[in-house]
Amino acid sequence: MAKLAVKHVSKVYTSGKESREVEALAGIDIEVNEGEFFSLIGPSGCGKSTLLYIIGGFIPFTEGKILVDGREVTSPGVDRGIVFQEFALFPWKTVIENILYGLEQKKIAKEERLVIARKYVEMTSLRGMENLYPKELSGGMKQRVALARTLAYDPDILLMDEPFGALDAQTRVFMQDELLRIWERTRKTVLFVTHSIEEAVHLSDRVAIFSHRPGRIREILPIDIPRPRIREEEVSRRQYIKLVQYLWKAVEKEVKGFSYSIGKRVDTDPEDVGFQGNLVKLEDAKRK
Ligand SMILES: Nc1ncnc2c1ncn2[C@@H]1O[C@H](COP(=O)(O)OP(=O)(O)O)[C@@H](O)[C@H]1O
Ligand SMILES: [Mg+2]
Repeated sequence: MAKLAVKHVSKVYTSGKESREVEALAGIDIEVNEGEFFSLIGPSGCGKSTLLYIIGGFIPFTEGKILVDGREVTSPGVDRGIVFQEFALFPWKTVIENILYGLEQKKIAKEERLVIARKYVEMTSLRGMENLYPKELSGGMKQRVALARTLAYDPDILLMDEPFGALDAQTRVFMQDELLRIWERTRKTVLFVTHSIEEAVHLSDRVAIFSHRPGRIREILPIDIPRPRIREEEVSRRQYIKLVQYLWKAVEKEVKGFSYSIGKRVDTDPEDVGFQGNLVKLEDAKRK
């Protein structure tokens, strides 16, 4: 049985005074196995974050089902831990207090809480920083605290939404390897959203490619590169290069497909001069 099953999930947002409808996801089916590292990539705005929030139980959906261990889930739970792109730390709490937070929620005894929190301080290489406040930390450190906090309450499934998106290139690479090391130790089931194809290939067992909005799964690609993965050896492997190139093409096709479909709409108006022209006209209309 799949650890996490997303069954034909669709989502339509209704927003604004005129109840404008935005179809974000259309019939998503995904099965993630226990201990698997599964990534989602696709054009910006195709509904990746929406899907993660739905699985996390934070937003309602229009159609479908989410199953964890075969049981339907409809609200947030400690079985699913989320790590966002923005470092969602409490600014008034120190590193260790931030990590302890989830454990307090789980009502674990005080002494045990501290033992667990220290274990994750070690695991995420935060030793010596326990009593600092978030504002005293670099981006990479903050993201490590966020990861430690989520890992500390021991969710079965980690949902990660572009967790390294705001980091500089060097820190990002460092954090990827850190995450791989931690994942190899804990073997959590991970659902990971990224816009970096190299990151997806380096980390994942499988990668799902999303279409442009409304998001549909175009393809699920197994990443059959042996583990443990060592970056220096991997980047020159033919298999790695081929997978990266393949995914680039697949995502590019989706991004282009999207601008083409906008272009088509524009073409129906004889006064139009293509997509760019339409944007200019939109600006004009706003000014009027
Ligand atoms: N709260 C919301 N209300 C209305 N539309 C939304 C809301 N959140 C996201 N959307 C729209 O849904 C689509 C998918 O968004 P999102 O899930 O953030 O995409 P991604 O994470 O793949 O970039 C986008 O077109 C976005 O503008
Ligand atoms: Mg997003």
